[in-house]
Amino acid sequence: MRLLLLWYGSTVGKKVLMAGTGAILLAYVVAHVLGNLLIFRGPAAINAYGAFLKSLGPLLWFARVVLLAAVGLHITAAVQLTRRSRAARPVPYRRQEPQVSTVAARSIRWGGLAIGLFIVYHVLQLTTGTLHPTFHGADIYANEIDAFRTWWVDAIYLAAMGALGLHLYHGTWSMARTLGVRGGGRRGPGLRNRGGVAAFAVGVALTFSAVPLAVAVGILRPRPAGEGVGHDVAQSGRTSVIVRHFAPADGSGAPTRPSALAAPDAPANRWPLPGGHRT
Ligand code: HEM
Repeated sequence: MRLLLLWYGSTVGKKVLMAGTGAILLAYVVAHVLGNLLIFRGPAAINAYGAFLKSLGPLLWFARVVLLAAVGLHITAAVQLTRRSRAARPVPYRRQEPQVSTVAARSIRWGGLAIGLFIVYHVLQLTTGTLHPTFHGADIYANEIDAFRTWWVDAIYLAAMGALGLHLYHGTWSMARTLGVRGGGRRGPGLRNRGGVAAFAVGVALTFSAVPLAVAVGILRPRPAGEGVGHDVAQSGRTSVIVRHFAPADGSGAPTRPSALAAPDAPANRWPLPGGHRT
């Protein structure tokens, strides 16, 4: 334990911790951006995906705790490293003209803060529904369409995805150097190639942005009134339970296994009827 604390006390230890927790967060971001694409396969596909995640129960909570711990340690190490580097140069440069550092490197702290604030807003909007005026519980499709039909919500998301792209670019590059990851050849793709890292960061940011943009331009539209959400829902108090999934009439999305889902309902929930019914 003493050895671990000694290691963490060193600048290298903090950098390795930042890189390790960054790698965990990066893995989550990649999985999340791929999962988000299911919305283009229709309401049934994206809603079944959300229901599947929630059906994992304790495993989902374990992943959430790991993520939260990774975010906490990542921020703590970042703050401590910033303080340490400021203490090493108490008198600021009179005039600073960066010769080789990129915009991404210079914006890494502010960008990180912006992404942190975005995640808080995002979870309160699309997971808990606290900041979503028409939250539909487990109906992720409706939640996203409703949210992204508001221009300023799109603006927040697109700005956050810009910050995420820059953060990923510099963060992935630094992480690879700290951990000594070498991919590809001198010119080939991989983590020694700035172009490859830039393409990855821009790709992730653009893929995330595809959902709000597709809603804004009308590629993703609200379901016609009366069309199913992709599952049957039973209502019990303020809790919705998905009892059976089905594919919608237009054939998009495949039926999935039944799964139990407990989702908090907002007051504007569209499933107010007691007992099982199709929404
Ligand atoms: C346009 C981009 C995005 C869309 C459409 C989107 C969509 C969603 C949706 C629908 C949920 C709720 C899922 C559910 O309740 O089952 C969610 C949760 C979440 N998202 Fe995103 N997301 C986006 C970007 C991001 C980004 C960039 C991050 C992180 C950097 C992020 C982090 C999270 C987290 C931490 C949760 C909570 C997961 C949980 O409940 O355990 N999202 N997202």
